[in-house]
Amino acid sequence: MIQKTNSKVGAVLVVGAGVGGMQASLDLAEAGYKVYLVEKNPSIGGVMSQLDKTFPTNDCAMCTLAPRMVDCGRHLNIEKLTYSEIESIEGEAGNFNVRIRKKARYVDPDKCTGCGECVAHCLVRNIVYLDQPGRGPVQIEESMRVKVDDILNRYEGGAEIIVPILHEINEEFNWLPPEALGRVAEIKQIPIEHILRIASFYNAFSLTPKGKHVIRVCTGTACYVKGAQRILDTFTRELNVEVGGMTEDGRFSLETVNCLGCCGQSPVVTVNDDIFGYVNQTMTQDILGQYT
Ligand code: FES
Repeated sequence: MIQKTNSKVGAVLVVGAGVGGMQASLDLAEAGYKVYLVEKNPSIGGVMSQLDKTFPTNDCAMCTLAPRMVDCGRHLNIEKLTYSEIESIEGEAGNFNVRIRKKARYVDPDKCTGCGECVAHCLVRNIVYLDQPGRGPVQIEESMRVKVDDILNRYEGGAEIIVPILHEINEEFNWLPPEALGRVAEIKQIPIEHILRIASFYNAFSLTPKGKHVIRVCTGTACYVKGAQRILDTFTRELNVEVGGMTEDGRFSLETVNCLGCCGQSPVVTVNDDIFGYVNQTMTQDILGQYT
């Protein structure tokens, strides 16, 4: 919170640290004013970072934005009040009192080095594993242990080879069972949180059980306008399973995907690594019949 004062000061409050707010702050700071730059989001920069090119010059958005972010971050005349919102403004031109609420970050910003360990240890993010095997002493079925150990024996090293190990485990079981991850952590002496961070980052890994065959219906724009939703509904009905679910017999999982890169054959469906183009509702039974 900015301290209340009745005397006039040469300070300016800029609300919003998008590219406009940052440039205004830099201009004012260069002119000798003390600038309080208030931004409601955790970081300065605004939405421009989400753009690729900017109209009409086709300049790279980040090339425009990044130098201003750095300059704002370094300028001694600019006090950044991020993750903060204005609650009230009193006074008149030349003498305002502003009440600002700074939201809790749950980390000490002075100590934060941006290492990301707090994300890896986040109890909310990893909640799926809290009461399951994989944390604490590992209890694993003998048959699973043999398979996981077999995979582990093929890889020397530690954390740096975790991705191929997870790939093989995912391929073997069709998902990453917590007990298997616990075994990897135990044998490779890697904290389970590191493994979970990688496992939850890549789409190729699943932290929930999947069917033997994974059906993916593309609902990207091209497929959608060609009737992808009707195909999805047909699969849902025929398999009696919702999107994201698995059939009772464990044979199929049903998922959606946003564009498979073969829009010319839309609507597109994949089953495991097989691609089916120009799919219509009458073909779904045929497709399902090819997988036992
Ligand atoms: S939108 Fe479906 S393949 Fe591109």
